[in-house]
Amino acid sequence: MEKVVLAYSGGLDTSCVIPWLKDRGYQTIAFCANLGQGDNLALIKKKALSSGASKVYCLDVQNEFIMDYVFPALKAGALYEGKYVLACALSRPLIAKHQVNIARKEKAGGLVHGCTGKGNDQVRFETTFRLLAPGMEIIAPLRIWEFKTREEEIDFAKSRRIPVPVTKKSPYSIDTNIYGRAIECGVLEDPWKEPPEDVYALTSDPRQSPAQPGYVTITFDNGIPTKINGKTYGPVALVQALNKIGGRHGVGRMDMIENRLVGIKSREIYENPAGTMLHTALNDLESLVLDRETMRLKAVLSLKYAELVYNGLWETPLKQQLDAYFSKLHERSSGTVRLKLYKGHCTVVGRKSPKSRYKQKLATYGKGDQFDQKLAEGFVKLWGMPFISGQ
Ligand code: ARG
Repeated sequence: MEKVVLAYSGGLDTSCVIPWLKDRGYQTIAFCANLGQGDNLALIKKKALSSGASKVYCLDVQNEFIMDYVFPALKAGALYEGKYVLACALSRPLIAKHQVNIARKEKAGGLVHGCTGKGNDQVRFETTFRLLAPGMEIIAPLRIWEFKTREEEIDFAKSRRIPVPVTKKSPYSIDTNIYGRAIECGVLEDPWKEPPEDVYALTSDPRQSPAQPGYVTITFDNGIPTKINGKTYGPVALVQALNKIGGRHGVGRMDMIENRLVGIKSREIYENPAGTMLHTALNDLESLVLDRETMRLKAVLSLKYAELVYNGLWETPLKQQLDAYFSKLHERSSGTVRLKLYKGHCTVVGRKSPKSRYKQKLATYGKGDQFDQKLAEGFVKLWGMPFISGQ
């Protein structure tokens, strides 16, 4: 039997994939990535084996995820369509990379994912597979299998003694990891309907959030967040702590109609307290330390970077080149930003940096003004000169 490595979540779909593949002559090695999704991994491991997997790999990849995927995207200011912090999109190339590593170690010839043909994730998985392991077989059972409804899938699962969840299925489709949550389907498919409160899990309803604003400082070293309120945190602990602080104040909720790569528009609700605070803070620090021209170009390249991530092009040369650009750019981005969190809002109320380009003696309208007003006259004249017609 040919061996394949499956990205396994423990859900009904990827569990059914295992016996479905066996029927077609494949032996499945399941890979379960701990991205901080909060599932019981021991149970998931058991489920993979009872579904027929020959072996299960469970890896805690949270630190790698934050260091090598989340922070580079933060440094790039990557927000898809100006909004989405890409929590789900960033996790896919990481999972795919580990699948390839496991496949090589186990001498497996195929890579399998449980994505449908309608979404972005199939593109992210398969493009990463093909860039890292050209020539390896790729199987996407959900695009080709015979089950038309969830009921048919459940019948199949029962016939193969796969434990089917007894709890009522959530009306939503949810993707969670340490960096945030994405929620779609059900009532959310109507773009006019306000999301019910039960879609949220990381953020409190602003009506119930503290009546007093919360203040928090985030310190960055070369564009990497390292401290909260002056205390040093490792990457995973930092993101967890910000999620907690922001979530308490209802910060990081987003309701978005987005353009999927496959051409469909979809309505997604996001909860990203840490991501919202980090992007808000770093972007503000940049306005203090970067010169105008750098800021202008960065805004353009941020958009480009976000598209590359969203569209599954993580392992491309262009993405790597942009990482080098953003690392160079952030050589000045050290300093501290002070955020005010209040009833779902996250606003910057202070910033400081040893690399600041803000010059109070030039900006001031008060005492100590050193700006030479006379210089402005000639500057303004020359500025408009190219546009004045006549001899
Ligand atoms: N739209 C997001 C993306 O493409 C999230 C996808 C998963 N969403 C979900 N609710 N299951 O990255």
